Amino acid sequence: MSGGRNTLGHDLVKRWGWLDPFANFFGAIVGGFYKVPGTHPLKDLLHGTWPLHHPLHPAVTDLTIGGYTAMVALDVLYVVTDEPGLLRAADFVLVVSFITSLGSILSGFTDWNETYDTERRNGIFHGLLMTVASVGFLLSLWLRVGAAGDARASAIVISTVAWLLMLFASYFGGEMTFGFGTEVNRQAWSEVPEKWEPTEVTAASLEDRKPVVAKTKSGVDLFIVSLDGSVYVMGNTCTHAGGPLNEGKFVGKDRCEIQCPWHGSRFCVKDASARGGPATFGEPRFESRVAGNGRLEVRFKG
Ligand code: FES
Repeated sequence: MSGGRNTLGHDLVKRWGWLDPFANFFGAIVGGFYKVPGTHPLKDLLHGTWPLHHPLHPAVTDLTIGGYTAMVALDVLYVVTDEPGLLRAADFVLVVSFITSLGSILSGFTDWNETYDTERRNGIFHGLLMTVASVGFLLSLWLRVGAAGDARASAIVISTVAWLLMLFASYFGGEMTFGFGTEVNRQAWSEVPEKWEPTEVTAASLEDRKPVVAKTKSGVDLFIVSLDGSVYVMGNTCTHAGGPLNEGKFVGKDRCEIQCPWHGSRFCVKDASARGGPATFGEPRFESRVAGNGRLEVRFKG
């Protein structure tokens, strides 16, 4: 997706073609890694598809940003009070924050690698700034080990500068979600029918594993399919970035999962859950019945 018009991030990065070689470089690394057989469980874990069923990156970055902020507060308190216990506390928080930042970096690059155009440029700019800030925190940590006097003062200055850079970079991270809609559930605003609603689809016209699309009165696209004699209905718009699920292919055990044609998310047709990332949210699920005229009626199930 490349939305985000009229936002500061979009206006800045849309002209910054110099970011593309960085994006190509990191894209080759991340994309190449996930082509290695057996890496998909790790990819699902880092997206948050499993076991969280929610994007992992924003959750783990809260820990990282909060931790580094606490570290700066402890450093400032130490400078004001000269209490040595505060230094040890700041060092400890720095170590914990750096460990959580590894999860932030890995989950961030995993999500970012499914983006395009200006959204991708914005994401790589955010990632590069965060990487530089992380190097600053690591340098500060190295200086703090056994350091005293000038080295300690340098360590505090470096981690404070890295923290400021992290705050600047965080703006562009927020821009991904709030400006471009990265990883936002594309079904979040769907108005689903709570009461039985007729469709134009007849049960007799359905062929096994050949999905058809119908629209509710409120405009929600329905994915209707017959699977081994049973009819299943769920949303047709991929929750990851809006791909048309009816154009995907059936995969998985018993071929009961539909794979999005855009980035490969997999949804179980029987319960509408997301079984493979990058999507983390399942589709809205509907129950169906056959009306007297042979047409299907649907109702939101959850
Ligand atoms: S739109 Fe990205 S996986 Fe469907």
